[in-house]
Amino acid sequence: MDLTYRPRRLRRTPALRALVREHHLAPTDFIYPLFVHEGATNEPIGAMPGSSRWSLEGLVDEVGRAWDLGIRCVVLFPKVADGLKSEDGAECFNEHGLIPRAIRLLKEVHPGMAIMTDVALDPYSCDGHDGIVSDDGVVLNDETVEILCRQAVAQARAGADLIGPSDMMDGRVAAIRESLDEEGFEHVGIISYTAKYASAYYGPFREALDSAPRTISGKPIPKDKSTYQMDVANGREALTEALLDEQEGADILMVKPGLAYLDIIHRLRGESELPIAAYNVSGEYSMVKAAAERGWIDERAIVLETLLCFRRAGADLILTYHACDAAQWLKAG
Ligand code: PBG
Repeated sequence: MDLTYRPRRLRRTPALRALVREHHLAPTDFIYPLFVHEGATNEPIGAMPGSSRWSLEGLVDEVGRAWDLGIRCVVLFPKVADGLKSEDGAECFNEHGLIPRAIRLLKEVHPGMAIMTDVALDPYSCDGHDGIVSDDGVVLNDETVEILCRQAVAQARAGADLIGPSDMMDGRVAAIRESLDEEGFEHVGIISYTAKYASAYYGPFREALDSAPRTISGKPIPKDKSTYQMDVANGREALTEALLDEQEGADILMVKPGLAYLDIIHRLRGESELPIAAYNVSGEYSMVKAAAERGWIDERAIVLETLLCFRRAGADLILTYHACDAAQWLKAG
């Protein structure tokens, strides 16, 4: 054939392919999510093989392992004992609570590791919602934001570097920014869960924390989070949320879940100059693990491909439970 353009020329050898490769993955792109509980031992999480609810001691070791693999940021989620849960989730701003203690300990042992926290009431709420549920079953916005601000300040006081509001209440980024500044934490950043969808992909996470919506207080409890998390059908609405979060002072914008929402990552990348993060959530992780256990897919290849595709779509950072495995594979080359 008489062809002028033969795109295969640049695919002919590994050296040529490397030369024109557009995107790369590095362990410093990852934020590693970790679950922590009060127990003295590490408890494996059934639906998330390879993940555990770490004891404080186990957490310190796991973060050390991540550090040695080149990971430079972790995000912490607490499994809170039922006895500490309440309708207003007040345990979330207890300065001696599990998360503040975990942060202080990690900062002592691994001072270089950046620590991100999650701001929302669900692990602390006996109703299993991210906000306060009124007697008639409405998730209250402004009342919730007041508590979230106290939670964020408690986390900052313990040493958190990045505060991650995952609650989807309106106006929380501005309110948290103001509270942090008032308390002298103007150096602490906000990584906002900007476009967080009401997704079925969070199932294994809610199992890990025992944090799914439930009715025990006698109130009518909404069975899902669709009055505050976004409708999965909506794309433009993510741009509205992004604009608001930018105006309110977010430092990083996040899209969640990740894999089925690459179009949203791409759209936000085009609209904002802020760093964009993707959350490769628990359900995405569990699906890969389940298929890999059955020998149906090549786990290493699937994980590295998936993570690289987040980068191609426009994500600068990726929250992923695969972080340590991926860092190890990248190191091995
Ligand atoms: C809590 C929160 C959730 C996740 C992160 N923070 C669950 C939810 O909103 O119900 C999900 C993370 C995952 O599935 O990996 N607000």
